[in-house]
Amino acid sequence: MIDEMKSRQILAASILAADFSRLGEEIREAEAGGIDWIHVDVMDGHFVPNLTMGPHVVEACRRVTDLPLDVHLMIEKPENLLANFAIAGATRLTVHVETCPHLHHTLNSIKDLGISAGVTLNPGTPLTFIKEVMDEVDLILIMTVNPGFGGQQLIKKTLQKVMAARKLQTLHPRDPAYIEVDGGIDPLTIKDTVHAGADVFVAGTAIFQHPLGARSGVQALREALKSGSVKE
Ligand code: DX5
Ligand code: ZN
Repeated sequence: MIDEMKSRQILAASILAADFSRLGEEIREAEAGGIDWIHVDVMDGHFVPNLTMGPHVVEACRRVTDLPLDVHLMIEKPENLLANFAIAGATRLTVHVETCPHLHHTLNSIKDLGISAGVTLNPGTPLTFIKEVMDEVDLILIMTVNPGFGGQQLIKKTLQKVMAARKLQTLHPRDPAYIEVDGGIDPLTIKDTVHAGADVFVAGTAIFQHPLGARSGVQALREALKSGSVKE
């Protein structure tokens, strides 16, 4: 069952690029296009130089969709807010290794709240930082841009880390973690990330800034996935 689940190609829409004056509609439009997960980018103005949303927005998303809410915490001291996000309806909380001196404990605290735990690394952080917590996580997010803003270009070098993460994941076959990529994903770059071994693809700009709307944005990414991966 796990194999079946993890062999899927999952598209996650980052609402950071949505029109917040009509967030509910935007989510429903992405859903109509066949999106799998909603990705919520939480930024604190400290760990990253931008300030976005908190548990209140997660709770608002939960009221308009039953889809998994994939919450990406770009905040210092995430352990202070884990329960708030779980109560708000998060399906998974993904924390940055750079913000967690007690990573093993933080991941277990997330699981103790009855939700999934993910771990992520900035482009400049080596993969070895997560080697010891592979049994604690159901998702490894490899940042393909430096976190803080949408609309950036994918950093090609991070694809090597995606490949290495896939290798590391195969050493833990009992419950293989998702390999997620986030930042600069569009119908062209998504193919490179498939080739590197990713199976969850986060996109903001390519979905919510699509000239024909979020529904078309999701469909264009799905088409790109169907047309297969390409080699560099
Ligand atoms: C960056 C965020 C991403 C971002 C992706 O800090 O974690 O989720 O919104 O946006 P695009 O798809 O525009 O690169
Ligand atoms: Zn994100």
